Amino acid sequence: MKVLVVGSGGREHAIIKKIRENKTVKELYALPGNAGMAEDATLVDIKASELDKIVEFAVGHGVDYAVVAPDNPLVDGCVDRLEAAGIPCFGPRANAAIIEGSKVFSKDLMKKYGIPTAAYEVFDDAKKALEYVKTCPIPTVVKADGLALGKGVVIAETREMAEEAIVSIMEDKKFGASGNQIVIEEFLEGPEVSVLSFTDGKAMVPMVSSMDHKRALDGDKGLNTGGMGTIAPNPYYTKEIADRCMKEIFLPTMEAMNKEGRTFKGCLYFGLMLCKDGPKVIEYNCRFGDPETQVVLPLLKSDLLNIMMAVTEERLGNITVRFSDGAACCVVVASDGYPGSYEKGKELVIEDEVKDKVYVAGAAFKDGKLVTNGGRVLGCTAVAEDLPEAIKEAYKIVEKVHFSNAYCRKDIGAKALKALK
Ligand code: AMP
Ligand code: GLY
Repeated sequence: MKVLVVGSGGREHAIIKKIRENKTVKELYALPGNAGMAEDATLVDIKASELDKIVEFAVGHGVDYAVVAPDNPLVDGCVDRLEAAGIPCFGPRANAAIIEGSKVFSKDLMKKYGIPTAAYEVFDDAKKALEYVKTCPIPTVVKADGLALGKGVVIAETREMAEEAIVSIMEDKKFGASGNQIVIEEFLEGPEVSVLSFTDGKAMVPMVSSMDHKRALDGDKGLNTGGMGTIAPNPYYTKEIADRCMKEIFLPTMEAMNKEGRTFKGCLYFGLMLCKDGPKVIEYNCRFGDPETQVVLPLLKSDLLNIMMAVTEERLGNITVRFSDGAACCVVVASDGYPGSYEKGKELVIEDEVKDKVYVAGAAFKDGKLVTNGGRVLGCTAVAEDLPEAIKEAYKIVEKVHFSNAYCRKDIGAKALKALK
């Protein structure tokens, strides 16, 4: 089989390494991938946003199956385009990817079908939004409707912050058309859990739960990032809560999408908050999370490509998906300065003995050598029998990767360890 994976980050590297375990895969393309994946896949120099070129490449190279991993191409209809050209895909069509592509859509969906989430108001007029935040409860949360590179959410701790967010999103168009509408919602509190779930619109098969660490600095301080590390399983996510989420959130979401004529097939990501009065949806993503995937897939015992193809062929309910009982920890090593400005092009060395435990998120070739090429550069992932061991081992891997302006959080998993106690 020839398999194409669209995307370029650590998540895609984790998907690629897992797909490689399937012996029927004779050729694996990463489009565009990054230099750090060159040993695991053939890099294709086309951007994930160039849908015409992606289809042309896939058809021209006889690709048998495609996995579209990032949000933007999914929302823009990459799967629809590939399918129209006769190539089966893993990932939702555009009409279902809207569950991430529009927060107004997802909030209205949850309201219509009684799926627990934060109370909210939608605005398409900045004046009305500004009027509303004069009296709404504070803190409040301001969200751009559309995709915003993960930066469209502002937790406003004061009325001034809420006003600034409204002006920058709606009037200054910080995120372009993504800010034509905004959602202003209730501030929720509680531990956060990420649950990625395979679904084909008939069955819902949640993967092992995980916990992201979004802030740049230790102790959950500093700016929001794409994620500085993850652990799995998430100790807050007990069997009892999992059962409740299945009944109150996961299955109702699948059925709601079916009823709307927007059957979701692929990996549906539930960003949950475990509030005092029960679990609530903070966000849906239409794809694998990054860096959640880097801890979830290493714990998957079943064959990933077989699961993906079962989703495509709507026979997920007939197969068994197994995860190991162990734990995993991924520590992201980033370029100092990230998520603000940072330097690229630093020589990057990953010692041989840890190569299979490192997912490369941002690397390029310069004069035949590997150099850094992103804010998040690497994800060092360890799998062990339990969480304390996985955390210890992940930080040992960090010692074996080198570039000159490297930084990482030192407390990935610390909160989870406290919860275990
Ligand atoms: P998102 O970009 O949608 O993943 O949101 C980023 C982060 O903002 C989430 O992971 C939460 O930590 C936080 N967040 C989003 N919505 C709320 C809310 N209603 N209450 C509290 N925190 C929130
Ligand atoms: N780690 C959060 C996300 O993938 O959106």
